[in-house]
Amino acid sequence: MKIEIVGAGVVGLAFGRALLSRGHAVRWVDSRPERLRSLRDEGLTAAVPCESSDPCSLHVICVPTPTNGREQDRSALSESLARVAALLRPELSPTVVIRSTILPGTSRQWAIPLLETISGLHHGKHFRFAYCPEFLRESHAVADASAPRVHLIGALELGHGDAIAEVLAPFEAPVVRVSLEAAELQKYIHNTFNALKISFFNDMRRVAKQLDVIADAEAIFSVTCQSAEGMWNPAYGTRNWGPVAGHCLPKDLEAFLGWMRSCDLDSPLLESLSALRRHGE
Ligand SMILES: NC(=O)c1ccc[n+]([C@@H]2O[C@H](COP(=O)([O-])OP(=O)(O)OC[C@H]3O[C@@H](n4cnc5c(N)ncnc54)[C@H](O)[C@@H]3O)[C@@H](O)[C@H]2O)c1
Repeated sequence: MKIEIVGAGVVGLAFGRALLSRGHAVRWVDSRPERLRSLRDEGLTAAVPCESSDPCSLHVICVPTPTNGREQDRSALSESLARVAALLRPELSPTVVIRSTILPGTSRQWAIPLLETISGLHHGKHFRFAYCPEFLRESHAVADASAPRVHLIGALELGHGDAIAEVLAPFEAPVVRVSLEAAELQKYIHNTFNALKISFFNDMRRVAKQLDVIADAEAIFSVTCQSAEGMWNPAYGTRNWGPVAGHCLPKDLEAFLGWMRSCDLDSPLLESLSALRRHGE
Protein backbone atom coordinates (compact mmCIF):
# COMPACT_ATOMS: atom_id res chain seq x y z
CA MET A 1 0.00 0.00 0.00
CA LYS A 2 1.13 3.57 -0.67
CA ILE A 3 1.42 5.19 2.76
CA GLU A 4 2.41 8.71 3.80
CA ILE A 5 3.68 9.29 7.33
CA VAL A 6 3.62 12.86 8.58
CA GLY A 7 6.22 13.34 11.33
CA ALA A 8 9.43 11.33 11.02
CA GLY A 9 10.41 11.39 14.69
CA VAL A 10 10.60 8.52 17.18
CA VAL A 11 7.13 7.17 16.34
CA GLY A 12 6.87 8.03 12.65
CA LEU A 13 10.30 6.72 11.79
CA ALA A 14 9.97 3.46 13.73
CA PHE A 15 6.46 2.78 12.45
CA GLY A 16 7.43 3.68 8.89
CA ARG A 17 10.45 1.36 8.97
CA ALA A 18 8.23 -1.46 10.24
CA LEU A 19 5.83 -0.81 7.33
CA LEU A 20 8.70 -0.72 4.83
CA SER A 21 9.86 -4.12 6.09
CA ARG A 22 6.36 -5.44 5.31
CA GLY A 23 6.62 -4.30 1.70
CA HIS A 24 4.65 -1.05 1.80
CA ALA A 25 5.70 2.06 -0.16
CA VAL A 26 6.34 4.63 2.55
CA ARG A 27 6.80 8.38 2.11
CA TRP A 28 7.75 10.46 5.12
CA VAL A 29 6.90 14.15 5.55
CA ASP A 30 8.78 16.21 8.12
CA SER A 31 9.40 19.89 8.80
CA ARG A 32 13.04 19.35 9.90
CA PRO A 33 15.48 19.66 6.97
CA GLU A 34 18.14 17.56 8.72
CA ARG A 35 15.66 14.70 9.22
CA LEU A 36 14.69 14.83 5.54
CA ARG A 37 18.36 14.82 4.54
CA SER A 38 19.15 11.77 6.63
CA LEU A 39 16.14 9.89 5.23
CA ARG A 40 17.10 10.76 1.66
CA ASP A 41 20.72 9.79 2.34
CA GLU A 42 19.38 6.32 3.19
CA GLY A 43 17.57 6.23 -0.14
CA LEU A 44 14.16 6.68 1.50
CA THR A 45 11.37 8.94 0.19
CA ALA A 46 10.87 12.15 2.17
CA ALA A 47 9.14 15.48 1.56
CA VAL A 48 8.66 18.82 3.31
CA PRO A 49 5.09 19.60 4.46
CA CYS A 50 4.52 22.30 1.81
CA GLU A 51 5.70 20.01 -1.01
CA SER A 52 2.92 18.68 -3.20
CA SER A 53 3.07 14.87 -3.48
CA ASP A 54 1.17 12.07 -5.17
CA PRO A 55 -2.06 11.22 -3.40
CA CYS A 56 -2.04 7.99 -1.43
CA SER A 57 -4.58 5.74 0.23
CA LEU A 58 -3.30 5.85 3.81
CA HIS A 59 -2.08 8.95 5.67
CA VAL A 60 -0.64 8.39 9.14
CA ILE A 61 0.00 11.39 11.38
CA CYS A 62 2.76 11.03 13.99
CA VAL A 63 3.59 14.65 14.86
CA PRO A 64 4.20 15.92 18.42
CA THR A 65 1.30 16.84 20.70
CA PRO A 66 3.10 18.63 23.54
CA THR A 67 1.38 19.97 26.63
CA ASN A 68 1.53 23.71 27.31
CA GLY A 69 0.47 24.26 30.89
CA ARG A 70 -2.51 21.90 31.00
CA GLU A 71 -3.50 22.32 27.37
CA GLN A 72 -2.60 20.07 24.47
CA ASP A 73 -0.81 22.00 21.71
CA ARG A 74 -2.44 20.92 18.45
CA SER A 75 -0.49 23.23 16.13
CA ALA A 76 1.62 20.48 14.51
CA LEU A 77 -1.50 18.33 14.22
CA SER A 78 -3.50 21.07 12.51
CA GLU A 79 -0.68 21.77 10.03
CA SER A 80 -0.49 18.04 9.27
CA LEU A 81 -4.24 17.67 8.86
CA ALA A 82 -4.25 20.66 6.48
CA ARG A 83 -1.59 18.99 4.32
CA VAL A 84 -3.41 15.67 4.32
CA ALA A 85 -6.78 17.31 3.57
CA ALA A 86 -5.34 18.90 0.43
CA LEU A 87 -4.09 15.51 -0.79
CA LEU A 88 -7.29 13.50 -0.26
CA ARG A 89 -8.65 11.94 -3.45
CA PRO A 90 -12.02 10.20 -2.98
CA GLU A 91 -11.32 7.83 -5.89
CA LEU A 92 -8.54 6.26 -3.78
CA SER A 93 -10.89 5.69 -0.77
CA PRO A 94 -8.28 7.32 1.47
CA THR A 95 -8.03 6.80 5.22
CA VAL A 96 -6.50 9.32 7.62
CA VAL A 97 -5.04 7.86 10.81
CA ILE A 98 -3.80 9.82 13.80
CA ARG A 99 -1.15 7.92 15.77
CA SER A 100 -0.08 10.88 17.94
CA THR A 101 -1.46 10.90 21.48
CA ILE A 102 -4.63 13.03 21.53
CA LEU A 103 -7.18 13.81 24.22
CA PRO A 104 -10.60 12.11 24.21
CA GLY A 105 -12.96 13.89 21.84
CA THR A 106 -10.22 15.40 19.66
CA SER A 107 -10.91 13.21 16.63
CA ARG A 108 -14.69 13.60 16.51
CA GLN A 109 -14.94 17.21 17.62
CA TRP A 110 -11.89 18.72 15.94
CA ALA A 111 -9.80 16.57 13.57
CA ILE A 112 -12.59 15.15 11.38
CA PRO A 113 -14.41 18.53 11.06
CA LEU A 114 -11.07 20.19 10.20
CA LEU A 115 -10.37 17.63 7.46
CA GLU A 116 -13.90 18.13 6.09
CA THR A 117 -13.69 21.93 6.11
CA ILE A 118 -10.30 22.10 4.40
CA SER A 119 -10.93 19.36 1.84
CA GLY A 120 -14.60 20.12 1.15
CA LEU A 121 -15.13 16.33 1.37
CA HIS A 122 -17.35 14.28 3.68
CA HIS A 123 -16.05 11.85 6.26
CA GLY A 124 -17.52 8.39 5.75
CA LYS A 125 -18.41 9.17 2.12
CA HIS A 126 -15.17 10.48 0.54
CA PHE A 127 -12.58 9.56 3.16
CA ARG A 128 -12.33 7.58 6.37
CA PHE A 129 -10.71 8.40 9.69
CA ALA A 130 -9.29 6.21 12.44
CA TYR A 131 -7.35 6.81 15.64
CA CYS A 132 -4.65 4.27 16.35
CA PRO A 133 -2.50 5.01 19.42
CA GLU A 134 1.17 4.05 19.40
CA PHE A 135 2.47 2.04 22.38
CA LEU A 136 6.19 1.78 21.61
CA ARG A 137 8.84 2.70 24.16
CA GLU A 138 11.17 5.49 23.07
CA SER A 139 14.28 3.54 24.09
CA HIS A 140 13.17 0.45 22.09
CA ALA A 141 11.26 2.26 19.34
CA VAL A 142 12.33 0.21 16.32
CA ALA A 143 12.10 -3.16 18.09
CA ASP A 144 8.69 -2.34 19.61
CA ALA A 145 7.28 -1.06 16.31
CA SER A 146 8.28 -4.24 14.53
CA ALA A 147 7.01 -6.56 17.29
CA PRO A 148 3.98 -4.82 18.85
CA ARG A 149 2.06 -6.49 21.68
CA VAL A 150 -1.38 -5.18 20.71
CA HIS A 151 -3.07 -2.71 18.38
CA LEU A 152 -6.07 -0.54 19.15
CA ILE A 153 -8.16 1.06 16.41
CA GLY A 154 -10.84 3.62 17.16
CA ALA A 155 -13.32 4.72 14.51
CA LEU A 156 -16.84 6.12 14.19
CA GLU A 157 -17.83 3.00 12.26
CA LEU A 158 -16.02 -0.33 12.36
CA GLY A 159 -15.23 -0.33 8.61
CA HIS A 160 -13.44 3.03 8.83
CA GLY A 161 -10.52 1.25 10.49
CA ASP A 162 -10.21 -1.45 7.82
CA ALA A 163 -7.24 0.06 5.92
CA ILE A 164 -5.05 0.47 9.01
CA ALA A 165 -6.21 -2.94 10.32
CA GLU A 166 -5.07 -4.52 7.03
CA VAL A 167 -1.65 -2.87 7.37
CA LEU A 168 -1.30 -3.94 11.03
CA ALA A 169 -2.53 -7.54 10.56
CA PRO A 170 0.84 -9.03 9.45
CA PHE A 171 2.45 -7.90 12.73
CA GLU A 172 0.59 -10.77 14.40
CA ALA A 173 -0.54 -8.85 17.46
CA PRO A 174 -4.21 -8.76 18.51
CA VAL A 175 -6.15 -5.93 16.85
CA VAL A 176 -8.91 -4.50 19.06
CA ARG A 177 -11.57 -2.24 17.53
CA VAL A 178 -13.44 0.32 19.66
CA SER A 179 -15.07 3.75 19.35
CA LEU A 180 -12.92 6.83 18.66
CA GLU A 181 -13.20 8.22 22.18
CA ALA A 182 -12.48 4.86 23.80
CA ALA A 183 -9.25 4.53 21.80
CA GLU A 184 -8.21 8.08 22.72
CA LEU A 185 -9.00 7.41 26.39
CA GLN A 186 -7.09 4.11 26.42
CA LYS A 187 -3.81 5.82 25.57
CA TYR A 188 -4.16 8.04 28.66
CA ILE A 189 -5.12 5.06 30.82
CA HIS A 190 -1.93 3.38 29.54
CA ASN A 191 0.34 6.33 30.32
CA THR A 192 -1.21 7.48 33.60
CA PHE A 193 -1.21 3.91 34.93
CA ASN A 194 2.50 3.65 34.19
CA ALA A 195 3.07 7.01 35.93
CA LEU A 196 1.06 5.84 38.95
CA LYS A 197 3.11 2.66 39.30
CA ILE A 198 6.41 4.54 39.07
CA SER A 199 5.28 7.08 41.69
CA PHE A 200 4.08 4.35 44.04
CA PHE A 201 7.41 2.54 44.00
CA ASN A 202 9.28 5.83 44.38
CA ASP A 203 7.23 6.44 47.56
CA MET A 204 8.03 2.95 48.82
CA ARG A 205 11.73 3.52 48.05
CA ARG A 206 11.63 6.62 50.28
CA VAL A 207 10.06 4.58 53.09
CA ALA A 208 12.75 1.91 52.72
CA LYS A 209 15.40 4.61 52.90
CA GLN A 210 13.91 6.11 56.06
CA LEU A 211 13.76 2.63 57.64
CA ASP A 212 17.38 2.11 56.65
CA VAL A 213 16.56 -0.95 54.51
CA ILE A 214 17.25 0.69 51.16
CA ALA A 215 19.86 -1.98 50.37
CA ASP A 216 17.01 -4.51 50.25
CA ALA A 217 14.61 -2.33 48.26
CA GLU A 218 15.17 -4.03 44.91
CA ALA A 219 14.82 -7.48 46.54
CA ILE A 220 11.52 -6.67 48.22
CA PHE A 221 10.15 -4.98 45.09
CA SER A 222 11.12 -8.04 43.13
CA VAL A 223 9.30 -10.29 45.63
CA THR A 224 6.28 -7.98 45.31
CA CYS A 225 6.30 -8.70 41.57
CA GLN A 226 5.79 -12.37 42.49
CA SER A 227 3.57 -12.00 45.57
CA ALA A 228 1.03 -9.26 44.77
CA GLU A 229 -1.84 -10.35 42.54
CA GLY A 230 -1.88 -6.82 41.15
CA MET A 231 1.53 -7.65 39.67
CA TRP A 232 1.18 -11.24 38.48
CA ASN A 233 -2.41 -11.04 37.27
CA PRO A 234 -2.64 -8.31 34.59
CA ALA A 235 -6.45 -8.12 34.86
CA TYR A 236 -6.37 -7.58 38.66
CA GLY A 237 -8.15 -4.36 39.65
CA THR A 238 -9.56 -3.74 36.18
CA ARG A 239 -12.98 -5.32 36.79
CA ASN A 240 -15.89 -3.23 38.03
CA TRP A 241 -15.92 -4.66 41.55
CA GLY A 242 -16.39 -1.38 43.41
CA PRO A 243 -13.97 0.48 45.71
CA VAL A 244 -11.01 -0.97 47.60
CA ALA A 245 -12.63 -3.39 50.03
CA GLY A 246 -12.25 -6.80 51.65
CA HIS A 247 -10.63 -7.83 54.89
CA CYS A 248 -7.00 -6.82 54.37
CA LEU A 249 -6.69 -3.92 51.95
CA PRO A 250 -8.61 -1.18 53.86
CA LYS A 251 -7.25 -2.10 57.31
CA ASP A 252 -3.65 -2.37 56.16
CA LEU A 253 -3.78 0.82 54.09
CA GLU A 254 -5.02 2.81 57.12
CA ALA A 255 -2.58 1.19 59.56
CA PHE A 256 0.36 1.78 57.22
CA LEU A 257 -0.63 5.42 56.65
CA GLY A 258 -0.96 5.97 60.40
CA TRP A 259 2.48 4.44 60.96
CA MET A 260 3.98 6.57 58.15
CA ARG A 261 2.57 9.75 59.68
CA SER A 262 4.04 8.76 63.05
CA CYS A 263 7.45 8.41 61.35
CA ASP A 264 7.08 11.82 59.65
CA LEU A 265 6.82 10.12 56.29
CA ASP A 266 4.26 11.35 53.82
CA SER A 267 2.75 9.74 50.76
CA PRO A 268 0.26 11.97 48.94
CA LEU A 269 -0.47 8.97 46.75
CA LEU A 270 -1.52 6.70 49.65
CA GLU A 271 -3.37 9.60 51.34
CA SER A 272 -5.40 10.04 48.13
CA LEU A 273 -6.08 6.33 48.04
CA SER A 274 -7.35 6.43 51.61
CA ALA A 275 -9.57 9.46 50.86
CA LEU A 276 -10.96 7.74 47.75
CA ARG A 277 -11.70 4.61 49.76
CA ARG A 278 -13.46 6.60 52.50
CA HIS A 279 -15.60 8.28 49.83
CA GLY A 280 -16.47 4.84 48.49
CA GLU A 281 -14.64 5.29 45.20
N1 LIG B 1 8.24 8.93 21.83
C1 LIG B 1 7.50 7.95 22.29
O1 LIG B 1 8.00 7.03 22.96
C2 LIG B 1 6.03 7.91 21.99
C3 LIG B 1 5.34 6.70 22.22
C4 LIG B 1 3.99 6.65 21.92
C5 LIG B 1 3.33 7.77 21.45
N2 LIG B 1 4.02 8.94 21.27
C6 LIG B 1 3.27 10.09 20.74
O2 LIG B 1 3.51 10.15 19.33
C7 LIG B 1 3.55 11.51 18.89
C8 LIG B 1 4.89 11.78 18.22
O3 LIG B 1 5.90 11.59 19.18
P1 LIG B 1 7.43 11.43 18.78
O4 LIG B 1 8.12 10.99 20.01
O5 LIG B 1 7.57 10.63 17.54
O6 LIG B 1 7.83 12.95 18.49
P2 LIG B 1 9.22 13.45 17.86
O7 LIG B 1 9.42 14.82 18.38
O8 LIG B 1 10.28 12.44 18.03
O9 LIG B 1 8.90 13.51 16.31
C9 LIG B 1 7.95 14.35 15.73
C10 LIG B 1 8.41 14.68 14.33
O10 LIG B 1 7.39 15.48 13.74
C11 LIG B 1 8.01 16.54 13.01
N3 LIG B 1 7.04 17.62 12.87
C12 LIG B 1 6.68 18.54 13.79
N4 LIG B 1 5.72 19.34 13.27
C13 LIG B 1 5.51 18.92 12.01
C14 LIG B 1 4.65 19.33 10.97
N5 LIG B 1 3.79 20.34 11.15
N6 LIG B 1 4.69 18.68 9.78
C15 LIG B 1 5.55 17.65 9.59
N7 LIG B 1 6.39 17.21 10.56
C16 LIG B 1 6.36 17.83 11.74
C17 LIG B 1 9.25 16.89 13.82
O11 LIG B 1 10.21 17.54 13.03
C18 LIG B 1 9.71 15.51 14.30
O12 LIG B 1 10.63 14.91 13.41
C19 LIG B 1 3.26 12.35 20.12
O13 LIG B 1 1.88 12.59 20.20
C20 LIG B 1 3.70 11.45 21.27
O14 LIG B 1 3.03 11.77 22.46
C21 LIG B 1 5.36 9.02 21.51
